[in-house]
Amino acid sequence: MNSDIRLIGYGQTRFGELWDMGIRDLMEEAADAAISSAPITALDIDMIIVSNMLAEITNGQAHLSAIASSLLPHHPPALRVESACGSGAFALHTACAMLESGRARNVLVIGAEKMTDVSNDIVSSALMGAADAEQERPAGLTFPGIFGMIAQRYMHEYGLSRAALSLVSAVHHRNACGNSFAQFRTEVTPDDVSGSAPVADPLRLLDCSPISDGAAACVLSTDKESPVRIAASQIASDSLSIVDRPVLTSFSATKDAAERSLAEAEVKLKDIRIVETHDCFSIAALINLEDLGFADPGGGIRFYRNAYEGQTAAHRSPGEGGALGVNMSGGLKGCGHPVGATGIKQIIDVAKRLRETGERYGLAHNFGGACATCGVHVLEHSPS
Ligand code: COA
Repeated sequence: MNSDIRLIGYGQTRFGELWDMGIRDLMEEAADAAISSAPITALDIDMIIVSNMLAEITNGQAHLSAIASSLLPHHPPALRVESACGSGAFALHTACAMLESGRARNVLVIGAEKMTDVSNDIVSSALMGAADAEQERPAGLTFPGIFGMIAQRYMHEYGLSRAALSLVSAVHHRNACGNSFAQFRTEVTPDDVSGSAPVADPLRLLDCSPISDGAAACVLSTDKESPVRIAASQIASDSLSIVDRPVLTSFSATKDAAERSLAEAEVKLKDIRIVETHDCFSIAALINLEDLGFADPGGGIRFYRNAYEGQTAAHRSPGEGGALGVNMSGGLKGCGHPVGATGIKQIIDVAKRLRETGERYGLAHNFGGACATCGVHVLEHSPS
């Protein structure tokens, strides 16, 4: 990073079906929580970046930057960033660039999405805006369908069984039980996952992140001190359509962003102990762990086998590092996935976990579509 950027405040709404809140209410609650946790007043915010994907369709509302600005008494300049489900990471990256350039010293980043006011058919169709409208939508695909095909291919290549895949959501649901902001705070067994309603073969209901409302916000600063700094912020892209990719079982944008993030943070993979990764569907969690470098191709399930048994270090070979906490918040599956809010919420969860555990490095991995866009942030915690 070209500047010392500190995470000085953060907060979020509960994620779930929040019938009594509109998109403005969600943004306001998260922004208030973030600013009131920071060692500044609202008047010190000199720029706002809003992360949102769908508000025109789900809320009939564009121009969220103007709404965000009007939440603060002095109407600071604001802009909106959209990169599908990866909008949060891209908003954070934009905030970092603004801070690095010296255009701002305290930036409020708000991610918000209000998805449950319209039918699931409308949301599913809107989410398909993150896929290729010429190659994928005409084939009748939805995102569960795209990730269903990816899961089929992965099972074919690596011999992953349906029963083993079910461990992923079982672990994420269990982790979410301890998170008061999570949409689902109920344990599910691997058998519950395998036996849940079919959505897009081989994926079942409990393999999928849900449709959610929610907002999350944070304040990044070059002006104030905090024990957590943004050690790296990198974004990467791949072809929009999976049709144009040489492989389905690995996402090159993750590899690219992760590699550059570790280099920017000057940190080794073995030193990363906390990870929040984009498990929009259970199969994605396995691919992500492999692309991030925490497991060999086809080996991601080892982490979940061990995590299900309560061992988070056992999948690592000696010298590869100690215990690894993956999606200890519950991830997208357990917490819910209000798409524009997810990337900001991941940063909050990594920061919280670093502070709770005293660990030094954590990583947040957030992507859009079938990882056509990807953002990776490394956080460093140095308690005083
Ligand atoms: N996980 C767990 N439970 C879920 C769920 C999920 N993903 N989605 C819905 N439910 C629950 C609901 O809470 C509801 O429970 P209740 O009857 O106790 O109230 C029940 O299942 C039925 O909910 P409903 O909304 O009718 O489900 P649906 O069949 O319309 O939608 C999915 C289910 C999986 C199709 C929908 O959640 C979905 O499309 N998810 C993927 C979203 C997506 O693509 N995001 C972008 C990723 S790239």
